[in-house]
Amino acid sequence: MDQLKSDLAQVVRLALFQQTEDVRLFVARLVRKYRNTDPNLAEIMDTYLQSHLPKPRSVMRKALSFHAPENQLMPADDESRLSLLKVFEDSPDCVTPLLSQELQQALEQLIQERQRADLLLSRGLQPARSAIFVGPPGVGKTLTARWLAAQLKLPLYILDLTAVMSSLLGRSGSNLRTALDFAKTRPCVLLLDEIDSIAKRRSDNSDVGELKRLVTVILQEVDAWPASSLLLAATNYPELIDPALWRRFDLTIEFKIPTLDTVELAINQFLDQDIENFRPWLKILTYAFQGQSFSDIEKEIQRFRRTVALHAVNPIELVEDLVRARAGMLDHHERINFAVLLAQGTRFSQHTISEITGVSRDTIRKHKSKN
Ligand SMILES: Nc1ncnc2c1ncn2[C@@H]1O[C@H](COP(=O)(O)OP(=O)(O)O)[C@@H](O)[C@H]1O
Ligand SMILES: [Mg+2]
Repeated sequence: MDQLKSDLAQVVRLALFQQTEDVRLFVARLVRKYRNTDPNLAEIMDTYLQSHLPKPRSVMRKALSFHAPENQLMPADDESRLSLLKVFEDSPDCVTPLLSQELQQALEQLIQERQRADLLLSRGLQPARSAIFVGPPGVGKTLTARWLAAQLKLPLYILDLTAVMSSLLGRSGSNLRTALDFAKTRPCVLLLDEIDSIAKRRSDNSDVGELKRLVTVILQEVDAWPASSLLLAATNYPELIDPALWRRFDLTIEFKIPTLDTVELAINQFLDQDIENFRPWLKILTYAFQGQSFSDIEKEIQRFRRTVALHAVNPIELVEDLVRARAGMLDHHERINFAVLLAQGTRFSQHTISEITGVSRDTIRKHKSKN
């Protein structure tokens, strides 16, 4: 009886700590233990076990591209209990970001350096251990980190700086160190996302002491980073980054607002199955979206698609609204091109086009006849 009590207590303890895997192992042991002395109990437990088999790994991965691994103790801030690190384990064929040729080459090299590290080492060289992604918001820095980790078949840990910074200021340094230590103990890609929010210039006068400590922690980490893992950082504000930190990264990789060609590819990709509804206005959309980030384009296109799906709106109405909103953001030359495109591809009168774009009807007519 005493034995039974202590087994029961053990199950309760494991269950309350949500150590599912350990509960399973322990119960399997109990089934064997009680099979002879109490076959009924053993059978009931065995039935529960069989009906709660662990999900196959591959299914788990697909279903939950974002999850906390069951068996690892993830570092968390004591106070807020927010998980400091987000984990992504994407499969290598996850969505590929749209990137410029230049960027693709830089990333390809980064991947190859890791895949062929032996060759480099035999020549006394090391693969790049760290890189910093720079560029405006919404152009794929975080997405590319996910893609990169997936290509390298490594888990990606993203250091959630909101969690770090929201904790008591005085403890941010130790939180940061806990998270970095955790990531250092296993092969992975660690992304310090939006690093500008902590790595402000040391001359910044707000909470100088605390920020200095954080920067020092990061500086030490970048220097001591193991070659088995890749350290990435991303920032929307390169000018806020301390030059001393900047220099320590092996590579700087620049992300830019998409070019006109890439905007068209992005629109195609984001429209997905609704592409046919919008095909006649693809060029006009491309023009209207130029200068915008991928993320803004995606949001607007998603809104279009929802509106068309719900309200049977003619897509041209959405295109026209967009055009009105965007015409004001173009320079003189772009406006003329835009006006001509509108004259050829929409039901706007030349009068309206002229009004929207500020290009005279004469100019529109002249350029139209040239095409
Ligand atoms: N280069 C890109 N190719 C395809 N989609 C993109 C790209 N950049 C951004 N997006 C879309 O915008 C979203 C936000 O991008 P994100 O990577 O978070 O931008 P950043 O980190 O540069 O601010 C992505 O999840 C994706 O849907
Ligand atoms: Mg980002």
